Amino acid sequence: MPAPSPAPPPALTEPGRAGPARGPSPGDGGGDDPRRCFARLLAADGAALAPMAGYTDAPFRRLARAYGATWAVSEMVSARALALGDATGLAISAPHPGERGLVLQLFAADPGEAAAAAGRLFVAFAPAALDLNMGCPVRKVVQRGCGVELMRDPGRAAAIVAAIGAAVPLPVTAKTRLGLDRVAAREVVSAVVEAGAAAIAVHGRTATQKYAGEADWDAIAEIAAAVDVPVIGSGDVADATAYARARARGLGVMVARGALGRPWVFRELLGGAAPSPQEVVAVSWRHARDHVAWYGGERALPRLRGQLAAYAERLGVARGAFVRVATLEDLAAAWRAAAGIDPVAPDVAALDPLVDTLPRCPRPPGRRRRRPRA
Ligand SMILES: Cc1cc2nc3c(=O)[nH]c(=O)nc-3n(C[C@H](O)[C@H](O)[C@H](O)COP(=O)(O)O)c2cc1C
Repeated sequence: MPAPSPAPPPALTEPGRAGPARGPSPGDGGGDDPRRCFARLLAADGAALAPMAGYTDAPFRRLARAYGATWAVSEMVSARALALGDATGLAISAPHPGERGLVLQLFAADPGEAAAAAGRLFVAFAPAALDLNMGCPVRKVVQRGCGVELMRDPGRAAAIVAAIGAAVPLPVTAKTRLGLDRVAAREVVSAVVEAGAAAIAVHGRTATQKYAGEADWDAIAEIAAAVDVPVIGSGDVADATAYARARARGLGVMVARGALGRPWVFRELLGGAAPSPQEVVAVSWRHARDHVAWYGGERALPRLRGQLAAYAERLGVARGAFVRVATLEDLAAAWRAAAGIDPVAPDVAALDPLVDTLPRCPRPPGRRRRRPRA
């Protein structure tokens, strides 16, 4: 349980209580060469929010950025589905009003489909950059020749990066793993860099490891040493010590699971205070209200239960009531019962890192299909 000391106001990079956004974002440009924007970002302190299917939506990205995430990556969407006119990927990828530095991620097997999908995303949202998923090991994705399957075929991975780069005036990045069943990413990483990738994110595990074992940052650093673009490491960074260790290697850092139910982790990585129990409650309340507003009603709350339970765990209280939340009032009652904290009490509401509530997410016309989970 974090120390119950009052926390200082969070460092804001999105409009919030402390005023307008600060600091550069991808998309702010890199002078003459937009590919340089990641080099500039990595020169500054801070970590990015890694893509997580089912989690890194607009409400969560906004909170992460409010606490200092340097940029945020949306969850992967299918290039084929987008190329065929499906609306699901557009709905999932939608930025919230005023969102800067949004990197949208595609999974793709075909350069033409990737180019068409990139064009749709660019026209709809003008994101800061597009990222190619080369690390998802989920069967449904791999069977379609996407995700980590691209690591078997550096030529195709490179062709997809080149096709996206030719289709839209945006930096293109790629996110990969260390290899399939052993460390062997060098060839594919060099190929996509040669094809124009502006930065590479590397999850420090192989595909067969999925999420087991420790991320291998030595292997990430070896990959980084072999290319001349910024490399952002991913895996097991959840505190200031791990963050500092990664930065000392000259690498950028992405945080995924360590941010679930804990968007203030980006403040902590930079030496900021752990939140008070009241702040944890205020943040979870903000998250739930934005989730309800963005998805158009309380019926969407069950999808947030995992994160609500994670907030409870951060405070060391039982998660039982949080995994049953069906209404905002359920959540308020759960906090009152579990921690004796009322989210709507003025002293708690004052710790909300954001001011305005999100609008309803855009609902692009067209068919929607079920999406695979990473
Ligand atoms: C639930 C979940 C969903 C994920 N979805 C994606 C995804 O859509 N795209 C991607 O490139 N990586 C995805 N990842 C991998 C993460 O971005 C990250 O590389 C990995 O979890 C290791 O970082 P961590 O130890 O900080 O969690 C996902 C991970 C999790 C746990």
